Amino acid sequence: LRTHLDVDRVLELNRRFHDEVESHSYDQRMGVRHDASDVRRTLDELERVLGRALPAGGTVLDLGAGTGNLAVKLALDGRFKRVIAVDISAGMLAEASRAATEHGVALETCVSSMAPLPFADGSVDLVVGCAMLHHVPDVSALMSEVARVLKPGAACVFIGEPSTWGARLTASVKAPVIAAARVVGLLRRRSVPRWDHDDIDVHTFSTDDVRTLTVREFDDLRLVPEGLLEPVLEQALFAPLLLVAGRHHGVARGVRLLRRALEAGDRWLSTRIHPALFVSMKFSAVRA
Ligand SMILES: C[S@@+](CC[C@H](N)C(=O)[O-])C[C@H]1O[C@@H](n2cnc3c(N)ncnc32)[C@H](O)[C@@H]1O
Repeated sequence: LRTHLDVDRVLELNRRFHDEVESHSYDQRMGVRHDASDVRRTLDELERVLGRALPAGGTVLDLGAGTGNLAVKLALDGRFKRVIAVDISAGMLAEASRAATEHGVALETCVSSMAPLPFADGSVDLVVGCAMLHHVPDVSALMSEVARVLKPGAACVFIGEPSTWGARLTASVKAPVIAAARVVGLLRRRSVPRWDHDDIDVHTFSTDDVRTLTVREFDDLRLVPEGLLEPVLEQALFAPLLLVAGRHHGVARGVRLLRRALEAGDRWLSTRIHPALFVSMKFSAVRA
């Protein structure tokens, strides 16, 4: 994990990048959908990482909820009384609210940089997060906040964080795509805005990092590194393809089918290759 970050700059760049860029294109690029099969698959994944069924009733917080990838699915699942989507970007949360309304479910939103989390001690039954810890300047302080707001014995589940090796691998497959986008931009005399991603995506996670983050206030750490083929092709192929052609039904459907096939391949690999080679870091822990 990186230390000595310019915290204000990281927060401000994350807020602006997600407001100005991601809120307009994230769902299309990432293929975020909330069909019954998507809801089931996401809940299965959370339960697999937690190692048991998600609790029912009470309050669930989705941290760095973005456009509602997890939060809207949890609301559709219907087992919690309150689903609260927390994010630094009001633009991303507006998309989450729009998706919740479109699907006829209640979703509360809260604009916050999560330092501190604006919730009372011991008031939350489950905390989830997908692909967000790597943006947070002080992850250790956030995990203390997660521990503070969770009820004793309640759990947190984080998925989709870049592993240290995985981040290197995906950066190298992404490099030609970024170079191609710049060339196309130049040819069309349109400048592609440059964002300082070193100050937006600030961390990667080794298994030791996750152990250190959870050692003080949590028990029952479950580390589930996963994913190789699907996340790498996601960066190199699917995301750029969906960005330019994702509105075509056939393209979106083809990518969805390929993703499912690659995920099955990754599950097959999961017991056959060394855990350090996986791209996506997933873990759960229980408030001591
Ligand atoms: C890659 S997106 C993931 C969104 C969503 N969880 C998903 O699975 O699609 C990361 C999200 O984290 C949010 N974020 C980044 N830094 C944050 C911070 N310090 N506090 C709250 N949210 C933050 C961003 O605005 C963005 O919506």
